[in-house]
Amino acid sequence: VKLTPKVGQTKSISDMLVGVFFEDINYAADGGLYAELIQNRDFEYKLDDKQGHDKDWNEKTAWRMDGSGQFHIDSINPIHPNNKHYARLQGEGIFRNIGYDGIALNKNERYDLSFFGRGTVSKAPKLKIRISTKDGKILDEKSVIVDSKNWKKYQLVLTSNETCKDAVLEFVFTDRQQLDLDLISLFPQHTFKGRKNGLRKDLADAIAALNPRFVRFPGGCLAHGDGIENIYHWSNTVGPLESRMPQRNMWGYHQTVGLGYYEYFQFCEDIGAYAVPVVAAGVPCQNSGAHGHPLGGQQCGVPMEDMDDYIQEVLNLIEWANGDKNSTWGKVRAAAGHPEPFHLKYIGVGNEDLISNVFEERFTMIYNAIRAKYPEIQVIGTAGPFFEGTDYVEGWKIADKLNVPIMDEHYYQTPGWFIHNQDFYDKYDRSKSQVYLGEYAAHIHGRASTLEVALAEAAYLTALERNADIVKMASYAPLLAKDGYTQWRPDLIYFSNTDVNLTPSYYVQQLFGCNNGTEYIPMEASYSNAAVDVQKRVAFSMVKDPKDQSLIVKLVNILPVAANIQLELDQFDLKADTAVVSQLTGKLDSKTAKPEERTETVEKLKHQKLPPYSLTIIRIPPATK
Ligand code: AHR
Repeated sequence: VKLTPKVGQTKSISDMLVGVFFEDINYAADGGLYAELIQNRDFEYKLDDKQGHDKDWNEKTAWRMDGSGQFHIDSINPIHPNNKHYARLQGEGIFRNIGYDGIALNKNERYDLSFFGRGTVSKAPKLKIRISTKDGKILDEKSVIVDSKNWKKYQLVLTSNETCKDAVLEFVFTDRQQLDLDLISLFPQHTFKGRKNGLRKDLADAIAALNPRFVRFPGGCLAHGDGIENIYHWSNTVGPLESRMPQRNMWGYHQTVGLGYYEYFQFCEDIGAYAVPVVAAGVPCQNSGAHGHPLGGQQCGVPMEDMDDYIQEVLNLIEWANGDKNSTWGKVRAAAGHPEPFHLKYIGVGNEDLISNVFEERFTMIYNAIRAKYPEIQVIGTAGPFFEGTDYVEGWKIADKLNVPIMDEHYYQTPGWFIHNQDFYDKYDRSKSQVYLGEYAAHIHGRASTLEVALAEAAYLTALERNADIVKMASYAPLLAKDGYTQWRPDLIYFSNTDVNLTPSYYVQQLFGCNNGTEYIPMEASYSNAAVDVQKRVAFSMVKDPKDQSLIVKLVNILPVAANIQLELDQFDLKADTAVVSQLTGKLDSKTAKPEERTETVEKLKHQKLPPYSLTIIRIPPATK
């Protein structure tokens, strides 16, 4: 293939093309990115949370009692009405939490232990609190006297004297007395950026290393829930932990919302990414009431008489994020530790909803209210579910009618689909709304994360760059999946309590995320092989990075043979003699392929052989003298 850049046809493209999609699916939040080590810390798990109504999933999940002691769940006079349940301990024994299949501790690391306690009789109960191996070896121990008859927060630090991947937290109580405990938390001090109530460092580091220009949250379907009662309400997820409102996760488990809107926004700020919160468009998933809702199976949305309140909730989010610290909601943000605004610019309304009258009516109301009060905020509408051939017609009719700035599209397709539809956005009308490809991934039979899917995504990303004059943003989905709790495959990052495994698709996202540009330079290709099928398997793009003026060439070869590339660079007045080459290659079914980096002379790169099944990124600094 001979590639000739058309410098005269250079166009400006989005500076935020590659971002991440975060949804609490596959235990991505609790037991995942959220660094809390105690499972069911607030005794708010419910039978109803769990798909299949597992009888062991209830307020006592992950807690055990040893010895003659007893515990039951009570709800009289709780810490906060949103956190109704607590544990009442009686007798003497060891009250133990097993974490998420064990608590992973590192030698000499410090852990913040906190809980709310109250003693209910005259003598103050004395507790020993310790971290131990599951065989009973004590890793650290402290004593606390619960000296209050009213709820009081107790805090101490435990330091593990060895590394243990499946420790337990124990409360040893010996006084034959009664004690109430709630919100029992064990947090590593070593979180991402050292934030309190923060994120697991290794996972957050892996996300940050993608150099995402934005983070979308909290879903996915989680944002609109599987019934009206399950819609995600952002305001339930901010403020002191004991006042947040935990909720059933529609993916069949529980969300503490300890990782709530404040933590999402803080993370975005910490990694220099735009926050892109998505709120429900007043309708749940596919507009249908599910999970025992009286409207189960029928189309439904937030009742019209409740829409004013719902719209106000969305407007409050913008005030919370951007308002002055003395405004009603700005005060809540400031009280959490962030007096300065978060500079919210984008808000998604709706997620892959069925485009019906019920949807349109509610979306329009929310959209108009945001436009009227906050015209500076860019609303991202939803194009609805993808049906091959219909190309989101109904969703786009609304976009056209309302002039929605950006439309969110989602599709999960085969590698072949991505390879053969690289012209998907070439056909889009440039005068209409911009596009946010909010969820995409290539799926093969068995849904494995292989180099095959990663290369199809890479080829498609070159096409997204070509179209990044209208495709403003794109995010692979889903992001995280915990080993043993994965409900959806493939995912970008798999993890356990101790390990993080990055997929070939992760490296593709990282290579594109770290090699973004804001100027697209089209390249004309002339092929020695006339077969279109072969031509589509060699994909390419060229961009210029405004930060250092580097010229970046991306080349994808999805053929089983090497591809000869002749890269015309003569029209650039190149200063550098060498370029940095990052290459991801391997067997098509490889799940462990990783990119390698090398330096190459520019001269040599003008005539090169792309290995079979490879993505090559060439970075030539800087483009002009
Ligand atoms: O990414 C997983 C799910 O796929 C999302 O929750 C939903 O929006 C889509 O259907």
